[in-house]
Amino acid sequence: MASRVAVVDPMAEFAAEVREGLSRKVRKELPSKYLYDAVGSALFEVISLLPQYGLTRADERLLRLHASEIVTMLPLPVAVAELGSGTGRKTRWLLQALCRRQPTSYFPIEISRSALVACQRQLSDIDSINIVGFEREYLDGLAEVAATRNADRRILVLFLGSTIGNFDRPAGTRFLHEVRRILRPGDALLLGTDLEKPVSHLLDAYDDPLGITAAFNRNLLVRLNRELGADFDLEGFDHVARYDGGERRIEMHLRARRAQTVSIPRAHLRINLREGETIWTESSHKYAPDEPFRMARETGFRPLAQWIDEEWPFAENLWLAE
Ligand code: AVI
Repeated sequence: MASRVAVVDPMAEFAAEVREGLSRKVRKELPSKYLYDAVGSALFEVISLLPQYGLTRADERLLRLHASEIVTMLPLPVAVAELGSGTGRKTRWLLQALCRRQPTSYFPIEISRSALVACQRQLSDIDSINIVGFEREYLDGLAEVAATRNADRRILVLFLGSTIGNFDRPAGTRFLHEVRRILRPGDALLLGTDLEKPVSHLLDAYDDPLGITAAFNRNLLVRLNRELGADFDLEGFDHVARYDGGERRIEMHLRARRAQTVSIPRAHLRINLREGETIWTESSHKYAPDEPFRMARETGFRPLAQWIDEEWPFAENLWLAE
């Protein structure tokens, strides 16, 4: 059915965030959201097919198995806003179940245009669906959806795939607070959380033998070269996956193989990297099964239900805004 895309230009913000993260003397960092240009999004799709990385399959399995049950627990009529829809593949199960109960407006919110376009293409065949994509940061997009909602309509926010895990824990809590602030009592949130598992499984998942995750990580430098005119030498960096037991997270870094100087003209920046110095590109936090219940109560939600995958420890959590 109908679909359209609302657009803003994110380039100045990209340059500013790169400048902020790379001009630090210690703990240089790049925001993980920039991993997802067209190539990064495609590489992430491949990662999700790797035998070592079970997260996406677990998420999709839970949605496939429990879509009907989830829908029976929702307040109707409801519109669906998805934060970071990706290509929307796993969302299909839920949308199909919902569209059997009511005509459904679906608002995917994505900063990756290629993923948004793919999502709209993939899901537009569902009967009784109306898709309006937002090429926006999550909270900006959600605020826009909430501001234009029909008065009688609840909102179900989908935040799947354990993207919450890519925030530090305090930032994740702040983010969920912000989501709650935009919602009204009675709206719902379905949150995917990857659970703790043996460290060896995580290291295999985030440093796979084919080197797809390494390419996904290095592609961030390709993006800086192309979009900000940087001169990173890709051969000069190793992909490193490292588990921090205290923080219960797996981290991705890019480690300089030798001392080097890099210019990033469109971020007005020139940096010196020491041999062995790392640029931190992503954290992926893992949760204890009861942790999402606490997170819900801390951020103004009431936990309604949780489903856990039997093959790959992962939980789908349904919460209601109080
Ligand atoms: C999108 N996000 C939840 C993935 C994760 O597992 O943290 C991104 C990813 N990074 C490396 N592999 C996959």
